[in-house]
Amino acid sequence: MWPDRRLLDLIKTEFPIVQAPMAGVMDTDLVIAAAQGGALGSLPCAMLSVEKAREQVNIIRQRVSAPLNMNFFCHEAVEADPLREAGWKQRLGGYHDEFGLDPATPVKAANRSPFDAAMCELVEELKPEIVSFHFGLPESSLLERVKAAGCIVISSATIVREAIWLEENGADAIIAQGAEAGGHRGMFLTENVDEQPGTFALVPQVVDAVKVPVIAAGGIADGRGIAAAFALGAAGVQIGSAYLRCPESRVIAPARVALAQARDDSTVITNVMTGRPARGVANRVMREVGPISQHAPAFPHAATGLAPLKAAAEKLGRVDFTNLWAGQAVRLGREMPAAELTRALAGAALARLSRMAG
Ligand SMILES: Cc1cc2nc3c(=O)[nH]c(=O)nc-3n(C[C@H](O)[C@H](O)[C@H](O)COP(=O)(O)O)c2cc1C
Repeated sequence: MWPDRRLLDLIKTEFPIVQAPMAGVMDTDLVIAAAQGGALGSLPCAMLSVEKAREQVNIIRQRVSAPLNMNFFCHEAVEADPLREAGWKQRLGGYHDEFGLDPATPVKAANRSPFDAAMCELVEELKPEIVSFHFGLPESSLLERVKAAGCIVISSATIVREAIWLEENGADAIIAQGAEAGGHRGMFLTENVDEQPGTFALVPQVVDAVKVPVIAAGGIADGRGIAAAFALGAAGVQIGSAYLRCPESRVIAPARVALAQARDDSTVITNVMTGRPARGVANRVMREVGPISQHAPAFPHAATGLAPLKAAAEKLGRVDFTNLWAGQAVRLGREMPAAELTRALAGAALARLSRMAG
């Protein structure tokens, strides 16, 4: 029924659909529901401690016996630069005045740590069937341990060069993340956001360049998008934004409103929220300070300066400083339980694929 079964044979799910890991806006409930619907459930671990990640995996394992994907960031950690941080605080000074906040109040550092030895030990202990990485792959000694634990390794490429690098360095499947995608660009061999290809251009070129199965990501939110991804040679899809409005996500109420109102032209790529380029629905700080600012501290330190403003605005029901990560097809997302949505996506894709075959 699916024109390419290579991903299904690799990850052993019912459908070739990966529910995208989305750090900060989801936890166990979305993983469980997506897995119950037949997708690969992905637990984002980039903002979790080892203990929290273990706790969440245990909850998922108790509720569902499907394969599980644990997702990690593997950026190069950069120390916060006090000068840059101070300049950033100054840039945000007007907002502090507006919310009656003292910019001198110490703030907890933003918590997005790269995959390290401690997380690697956890992976060895829990043995998730799949481990996916964003921003490349971890150093080879850690990667070897992940593979020795029996995990299938997946990572995102945003250009063909990255896809070839990932295959050469051990990825078992590659997510081709087009520029339409919500959240952080997975880019790691390039810094040029303007050159990032869209999904339609990227997927067939990655398919031509590598032998491992390719998972299309970015702007895929219904059966048409899934069928198109297969037509381009993908063996599966990774879908994020379409799951954001599911009741099982942890998107806060005012952000749900912003996502529900978003249109095809509501998102931009910005670096002001975290210091790394990411696509989201434009909010006030993105519009007024960015969307790209040369003053933004390196990832993830830009988020540290924004944290008190985010908290103060959210208390008032505003998302002026909240990451509204979402892709260009966010409007196609539906407010329905994630298991039901997964089955609807797969059913619609199969119907369209069989019409196309006929
Ligand atoms: C809210 C949000 C958070 C995301 N967080 C992560 C993450 O933690 N790890 C990751 O590998 N990808 C993350 N992504 C990117 C997704 O893996 C995927 O590339 C993207 O959602 C696909 O595009 P779409 O949103 O148009 O479906 C995130 C995406 C969104 C929308």
